[in-house]
Amino acid sequence: MDTPNTNNEHIYAELTIGDVKVQNGVLLAPMEDVTDLPFRVICKRMGADIVYTEFISSDGLIRDARRSMEKLRLADEEHPVSIQIFGGDIEIMKEAALVAEASGPDFIDINCGCWVRNVVARNAGAALLKDPPLMAAMTKAIVDTVKLPVTVKTRLGWDSSSIIIEDVAQRLQDAGASAITVHCRTRDMGHSGDADWSWIPKIKKVVDIPVILNGDIITSDDVLKAFQDSGCDAVMIGRAAVGNPFVFREARHLLATGEHAPEPDFEEKVRTCLEHLRLQLLQKTERRAVLEFRKFYSGYLRGLYCASAVKQDVQQYESFAQVEDRLEAYIKFLHNHQFQNDVA
Ligand SMILES: Cc1cc2nc3c(=O)[nH]c(=O)nc-3n(C[C@H](O)[C@H](O)[C@H](O)COP(=O)(O)O)c2cc1C
Repeated sequence: MDTPNTNNEHIYAELTIGDVKVQNGVLLAPMEDVTDLPFRVICKRMGADIVYTEFISSDGLIRDARRSMEKLRLADEEHPVSIQIFGGDIEIMKEAALVAEASGPDFIDINCGCWVRNVVARNAGAALLKDPPLMAAMTKAIVDTVKLPVTVKTRLGWDSSSIIIEDVAQRLQDAGASAITVHCRTRDMGHSGDADWSWIPKIKKVVDIPVILNGDIITSDDVLKAFQDSGCDAVMIGRAAVGNPFVFREARHLLATGEHAPEPDFEEKVRTCLEHLRLQLLQKTERRAVLEFRKFYSGYLRGLYCASAVKQDVQQYESFAQVEDRLEAYIKFLHNHQFQNDVA
């Protein structure tokens, strides 16, 4: 039985899933329309230990649907990487897992936590929390089908009156899951209310496989606190990484040294934003890349001097050259502003 960490000495233990060992266990969460290849690469460069694709429809994969197949594309530099699939039918999920495995990820992750109506209506995602034997049977079927380690991402339960995560975790371990990620909310909560990390030590008491804590980790301090308070084996960061991939570097630094890393300066923030967009251009048509990138600007530019006018401008642009010109001009402007402050 593990006890929660109360000092730093166990925090640096490697996380092992299957044959893969990683240094710190600070993971990028799967996020639909966010964790595409370019964003995963950026987060990996910043120090994320494992990155996840967004969930991919098992139906789409077995039908060879273009949009689903596109999501399977992986880059060499992003390993270890997990492909997450979702679906409600065991046979289709087995086939989809084989398709996913063929694109060369390090793990297959099963989504048993998505709360949105059209996923739940297909008996997939969090709907599986209403039928733990089915969730376990699906996991076992996929474990028996693929060679790669299989992991599961789920929630505490369907609602506050049915928190069943301890039972679910044991069933998943028995089914052969190599790790479990727990988004510490119920399905009914969606993304509202606070994630309740206090379930993690209870889960750790009943399973030996790695338990990955997810929900409401915003800063490197939260990462440290999550490890210390819960005894989790790893943490997974979602929304806080959008436009702030630096959180992975900051978490690594804090875990390794006990000190806070210096914040990225304005130039690094804006240049990383541009680099991220350049990576998008390698994967998509220019217009699509630029339009889909709009969700990232506010994160990268948050807190910077006079950023709101820049944000407004770049949200309108449809070409890379326009964005690049505006952001390069902004960097110059910020340098001038800094220079004037330094001499004042
Ligand atoms: C835009 C968005 C898309 C998401 N897509 C997925 C997904 O494809 N698969 C999944 O397991 N969870 C998905 N999630 C949930 C996140 O992985 C994570 O569990 C949740 O955001 C809580 O973590 P956080 O507080 O660190 O954001 C999504 C969340 C957001 C905000």
